[in-house]
Amino acid sequence: MMRADLRNLKDVRNIVAVMSGKGGVGKSFVSAALAIAFRELGYSVAILDADIHGPSIPWMLGVESGSMGASIDGSIVPLDVDGIAVASFELLLPSRESPIVWRGPLKTRAILELVSKTSWGYRDFMVVDMPPGTGDEHLTIAQFLKPFVKGAVLVLTPGDLVLHVVRKAREFLKGVGIDLLGAIVNMAYFRCPVCGTIHKIFGEYSAEDIQILAEIPIKPELAQAINRGEIIKYLKSFDRELLETFIEVAKKIASKVAPSTT
Ligand SMILES: Nc1ncnc2c1ncn2[C@@H]1O[C@H](COP(=O)(O)OP(=O)(O)O)[C@@H](O)[C@H]1O
Ligand SMILES: [Mg+2]
Repeated sequence: MMRADLRNLKDVRNIVAVMSGKGGVGKSFVSAALAIAFRELGYSVAILDADIHGPSIPWMLGVESGSMGASIDGSIVPLDVDGIAVASFELLLPSRESPIVWRGPLKTRAILELVSKTSWGYRDFMVVDMPPGTGDEHLTIAQFLKPFVKGAVLVLTPGDLVLHVVRKAREFLKGVGIDLLGAIVNMAYFRCPVCGTIHKIFGEYSAEDIQILAEIPIKPELAQAINRGEIIKYLKSFDRELLETFIEVAKKIASKVAPSTT
């Protein structure tokens, strides 16, 4: 493991790691929405895109690639997106189409380089979009960030073998000594816009043993907004209700991890 250089993180008060058992469940969306919610509550916020497999944080926030700068002392200056400091590997690549083909250890190293070389400044909260799964790579990243991590949020979809995923996440976090703050069930249902009937597209789920922080419906308009890179505008101007849901989650997390800042 690379030498832990944590100087740039010294003023980051609370890191919240966003995890999932697999890709495609909405982990990046939840990370972005949570950061936006913390910002709405007046906190200073950062997002670290640590999912190098498919970095989509900049994309969702409508940021072009290759736009993170370097300062005179060689450190990386995170991008400011609506008051949120964003660092992503994607922002160091020349274009969105640049493939990232590194294998495991190199990828992990790249993420640790990114986080330690970025001048984060003072942040009440940093949301980390972790890679999907709970393997070696995750362990290295989690161990590196550990001194600042106040807890993890698990993103699930109902069909996602919920009990199994929760158990694996719990085991993983126990190994690193990080608390599981709760789960966000994404794509929990679809509400028919015509008749209001709720359809549980991915079926029912039972989640004993874990606090459900929120249930987020499937929303075609949301998917489109994400694809257009307009998640901030969508949440703030078109779907205040969804933003409020994330604000409630952000409040719950803040009261659990940082009682003094609430
Ligand atoms: N609640 C939702 N309603 C509709 N589409 C969603 C929802 N959550 C996520 N999506 C869409 O699903 C896809 C996967 O989401 P993403 O956040 O990229 O997943 P992950 O980071 O877990 O791979 C994206 O195209 C996103 O727009
Ligand atoms: Mg993602």
